Amino acid sequence: MIKHYLLSPGPTPIPNEVALAMSETMIHHRTPQFNHIFDQARQGLKKLFGTKNDVLILASSGTGAMEASVANLFSPGDKVLVINGGKFGERWLNIANAFGLSPIELEVEWGQAVKVDTVEKQMKAHPDLKGVMIQASETSTTVLHPVKEIAKLTKNGPLFLVDGVTAVGVVSIPLDEWGLDVLVTGSQKAMMLPPGLGFIALSDRAWERTKHAKLPRFYFDLNLERKNQQKGSGAFTPAVSLIFGARASLEMMQREGLDRVYARHARMSRATRAAATALGLKLLAPDSPSPAATGVYLPDGIDADQVLDYLRDHMNITLAEGQDQLKGKVIRIAHVGYMGAFDVITAVAALEMVLRKFGVELPFGKGVAAAQEVLMESLV
Ligand SMILES: Cc1ncc(COP(=O)(O)O)c(C=O)c1O
Repeated sequence: MIKHYLLSPGPTPIPNEVALAMSETMIHHRTPQFNHIFDQARQGLKKLFGTKNDVLILASSGTGAMEASVANLFSPGDKVLVINGGKFGERWLNIANAFGLSPIELEVEWGQAVKVDTVEKQMKAHPDLKGVMIQASETSTTVLHPVKEIAKLTKNGPLFLVDGVTAVGVVSIPLDEWGLDVLVTGSQKAMMLPPGLGFIALSDRAWERTKHAKLPRFYFDLNLERKNQQKGSGAFTPAVSLIFGARASLEMMQREGLDRVYARHARMSRATRAAATALGLKLLAPDSPSPAATGVYLPDGIDADQVLDYLRDHMNITLAEGQDQLKGKVIRIAHVGYMGAFDVITAVAALEMVLRKFGVELPFGKGVAAAQEVLMESLV
């Protein structure tokens, strides 16, 4: 078997069009030629983030953009509410602690979405909150949190910081319309790019806060970046080739139509869940699933990590593992970015085969058929 299938929730596959754009001859980053390309990428990003404000492009992974938001918006000791329902909720907590904030942790059971009234209660109990942090899509538990509803609570209160790393380009998450204050993502998910870029947009009131926030910042000084990026380049040397790629991937998304991009992700997600259910497997996030990836419990007695190793080493298919308490119990099947109906079919068919290999008795095709029923919807 030669062909490898990367069906993980990041890094994700790169379209040829994007790979070719990234292989363009290197150019200097302080030239009209680069300014033009950079500006086109910026315009595409504004549409994707649903904002009239700047979407800044940082040379970092998604975590860098998360860190930049904290460093630019808060002062030492500021109290923030961190909604922690998985590995990336934990990431917000770690960043807040590293920067000397006073985080209040709102723990959420893994696999569940946070309840809006619980957030409201916490906000009432802590009227001095300066920020609320959440994941729109908590990739580690494949959960979608109710960001739109929580934004209604934070509207005239604390800033609302949303990690959209596996949400931007997957679901509609318009910053301006919903009243989010920060939205970040990284390049290696729905943006169909290699790892290496972080993207961040701020609301007007968040930009206002940056003027009074006292935490130290240098490389991630967002005001400095904004000033430079508005002129068509970065404050420092930007990741030129990745930005060529970003322009190409944003063009691809515009061509498909953002509504169609979101519908495709929703359909792949429903098809994967239908397949898992048809195979008698329990879903990790049954109530509020993220359209970026589907977490599935494997039958008792089957080591999920061994299954994943087998899939990768003998079947050339990379899916993702469960983390921490989910380790060895679940697998995560991604359907994010440059993926379509037949990536779902591949993942499900491979799952049926690997489970049979590991001694689970199941008829071939049951999961595949359930997925096909959903995927047929796209054939008009
Ligand atoms: C929801 C979420 N937040 C943050 C991150 C961290 O992004 P990075 O690994 O690009 O720093 C990830 C990465 O998978 C993620 O899925």
